[in-house]
Amino acid sequence: MSSSSLNKIMTLLSCLILLGCSQVLALDNFASGFDLPEDATYVGSETCLDCHEEVGDLYAHTPHSVELAPMVPGGQADACEACHGPGSIHSEEEDIDTIINVDMMRAMDSSQKDAMCLQCHTENHVGWAGGPHQGSEISCSDCHADLVHFEVQAKPAADFRNESEFCIQCHTSEVGDFRMPFRHRVLEDQISCNDCHDPHNGFPTDTWNGINDTCLKCHTEMAGPFVFEHDGVQSEDCTVCHKPHGSTHDKMLVTDGNTLCLQCHYESEFNSDENWTLARVPHGGMLGTEGRCYDCHNEIHGSNVAPSFRDQ
Ligand code: HEC
Ligand code: HEC
Ligand code: HEC
Ligand code: HEC
Ligand code: HEC
Ligand code: HEC
Ligand code: HEC
Ligand code: HEC
Ligand code: HEC
Ligand code: HEC
Repeated sequence: MSSSSLNKIMTLLSCLILLGCSQVLALDNFASGFDLPEDATYVGSETCLDCHEEVGDLYAHTPHSVELAPMVPGGQADACEACHGPGSIHSEEEDIDTIINVDMMRAMDSSQKDAMCLQCHTENHVGWAGGPHQGSEISCSDCHADLVHFEVQAKPAADFRNESEFCIQCHTSEVGDFRMPFRHRVLEDQISCNDCHDPHNGFPTDTWNGINDTCLKCHTEMAGPFVFEHDGVQSEDCTVCHKPHGSTHDKMLVTDGNTLCLQCHYESEFNSDENWTLARVPHGGMLGTEGRCYDCHNEIHGSNVAPSFRDQ
């Protein structure tokens, strides 16, 4: 058993006996993960400024300033004490072992670092656990350097011309895709990473398909409903046929021509049968030329005219 959990049990016992527990046990969740003096209490972050004015100044322009005193919902800590724990004893003794200090904080894993922020930011980050950055080596502060007083990995969004450049500082390997001949014009700032990705949340999962819903926000004409739906679209991600960032193939297709369709419409007879029968329709005469499947089946996302997705 770690010394801190032993401490907590001792505290519990002593407070059951002495009935003085309301103060002693009332550590906020985040702070309770650290080894702090049992009788430390929250003094209010105004007190910290007596000795740490320069840190206070770094927060003055933010919603985390001591003046605005943001509180941990349902807890007792505000501003500095939300992250550093109850500071009554430290404020008297000026001892670094009586506060959540730099060494303790540098030892935090990424989920503890996230928890430090999430103790207050509960509402907009409900999807954080399923999102792209949870569990990675970066946490909240790494992207929000302008709102904290310590060194982090990345520069904040405000330092860049647009949000995409902010993301690219780490995601350099995505840049090549956005230089391809057929692409979403992210580098030209016509669309942003954040139009498709929420850095805090994964794709929505509550409807048809999270990725498709993201695409259909802009490409409404593909949404249907159609009289004749294409199961290859309706029951799949757009990404079965399209590369979302960019592609060397026209219309950002994953692959060109017939291979695209044959990933699903391959039939055993297709190669051997002279008529190249597809779904009982002989295509021999039709595929002889350079025609691609979707030159004829051109309402490929669904049709109100024909079950074969042809407009004539
Ligand atoms: C009466 C002055 C005083 C007050 C009030 C005070 N501190 Fe400190 N604090 C100090 C001194 C002095 C040090 C440096 C101690 C050392 O380096 O040995 C320190 C160090 C720290 C450290 C750094 C520990 C480290 O690892 O280097 C943190 C974090 C800290 N204080 C937070 C707070 C917070 C939060 C409050 C308000 C709850 C607060 N302090 C109130 C005097 C004060
Ligand atoms: C959002 C969480 C958070 C808030 C709010 C916060 N701190 Fe810190 N603080 C940290 C972390 C994390 C570190 C250690 C960073 C590192 O060096 O790795 C730190 C380090 C420190 C240090 C030691 C390094 C230094 O810069 O001198 C002091 C002192 C300190 N904080 C005081 C304060 C005071 C005073 C406030 C309120 C005005 C405050 N902190 C608000 C998270 C926070
Ligand atoms: C003590 C509670 C508390 C803690 C801890 C806290 N925040 Fe906040 N934060 C707030 C409040 C209150 C606001 C203002 C209202 C809002 O935007 O939700 C805010 C606003 C923000 C904003 C919006 C800034 C703006 O200009 O609109 C960001 C980004 C943010 N916090 C990031 C963080 C990060 C990153 C951490 C951890 C390093 C953190 N917060 C820790 C309470 C907190
Ligand atoms: C990969 C980078 C990244 C990470 C990690 C990240 N954020 Fe953000 N966050 C952003 C960007 C970009 C914005 C858009 C606003 C801006 O330009 O700063 C934003 C906006 C916000 C806002 C204000 C808008 C809103 O949604 O209410 C808050 C609050 C916030 N983040 C808190 C957090 C917290 C808490 C965490 C950790 C759980 C976190 N962020 C992790 C990049 C990030
Ligand atoms: C501080 C560096 C950093 C910044 C800034 C950053 N990311 Fe990330 N991102 C990472 C890391 C690290 C991972 C974990 C997986 C990896 O290594 O690619 C990740 C993962 C992702 C993933 C999931 C990748 C996968 O393989 O599933 C997406 C999507 C993503 N980030 C989008 C964004 C967007 C959008 C932004 C801008 C709002 C952004 N990131 C900003 C570092 C960053
Ligand atoms: C048009 C929408 C869209 C835009 C704009 C966009 N993405 Fe993506 N991104 C996606 C989709 C969809 C996926 C695939 C997700 C899946 O298959 O799970 C993806 C995947 C990723 C991945 C995972 C690795 C990979 O390549 O498959 C990363 C990292 C990523 N995007 C980062 C970014 C960054 C950074 C930007 C901006 C520079 C950006 N994305 C812009 C839609 C987009
Ligand atoms: C079964 C493969 C397939 C799937 C799945 C698919 N598409 Fe397509 N899409 C195509 C083909 C093939 C083209 C090119 C048609 C052409 O050139 O006539 C295309 C073209 C497009 C175009 C360009 C239209 C134009 O007129 O230039 C957009 C936008 C598009 N698709 C969006 C989507 C979206 C959004 C989804 C998901 C809801 C999706 N696609 C799913 C095959 C598919
Ligand atoms: C924020 C709006 C937006 C979102 C979200 C979006 N797109 Fe687009 N998309 C565009 C715009 C604008 C263009 C036109 C690009 C251009 O020509 O510069 C485009 C073009 C396309 C094209 C045609 C490219 C060509 O070569 O003609 C395809 C295919 C496409 N998007 C698929 C998708 C898919 C798949 C998704 C989801 C992963 C998606 N889009 C999400 C705005 C969006
Ligand atoms: C992800 C798999 C998938 C891809 C890729 C795909 N389809 Fe389909 N397609 C289906 C399914 C499933 C059906 C439903 C009929 C069936 O079971 O054969 C269907 C139906 C059709 C039909 C109507 C056939 C009928 O019997 O009603 C046509 C025509 C068609 N697809 C053409 C295409 C073309 C052209 C492409 C390439 C642009 C394509 N499909 C790509 C899965 C796919
Ligand atoms: C030159 C035009 C043309 C080309 C190219 C073509 N088809 Fe067809 N396809 C047709 C015609 C015509 C029919 C018969 C149904 C109709 O009249 O609409 C048909 C029927 C189908 C059907 C059955 C539809 C149904 O309603 O039962 C499928 C599946 C199909 N094609 C898939 C493909 C695939 C996959 C490719 C590419 C390998 C392809 N087609 C290329 C013209 C074409």
